[in-house]
Amino acid sequence: MEIKWESKYCLDIKMIDDQHQHLVNLYNKIVQSHSKKQPPLLVGAFVRGFLDQAKLHFKTEEAELRKINYQNINKHKESNDTFVIKITGYLAEFNKGNESTAEQTLEYIKDWLLNHILHDNRMFATSIKNSANTPSFQTATA
Ligand SMILES: [Fe+2]
Repeated sequence: MEIKWESKYCLDIKMIDDQHQHLVNLYNKIVQSHSKKQPPLLVGAFVRGFLDQAKLHFKTEEAELRKINYQNINKHKESNDTFVIKITGYLAEFNKGNESTAEQTLEYIKDWLLNHILHDNRMFATSIKNSANTPSFQTATA
């Protein structure tokens, strides 16, 4: 099932919110492709699109967390790495033309995405907003 973007997902850090919203849109494209019963290779291409964007997003976040010396950065990075490994595994199945893991993939991404936005990122959003380093966000969103 698709995710409808809601205001409760906003962390009030525009660059991160924009990236999260983009990830939600990309996730919805996978759902649409799967529900139209498109071939696994094509559904997989949408999964790949999501993964690529997620990796970019992780780089953005990790760079910002390093700037504020966020103490749980390693835990955060580990969780990102776990996600990449898991999705890479699912992607390999799509690329083999196997769609048997499609439902699992969608469920995994959805759970991960909502947890990432609503819990994981909320833990450091306040630190980032309060930090003297926030101008990098303002510049990026100008
Ligand atoms: Fe995030």
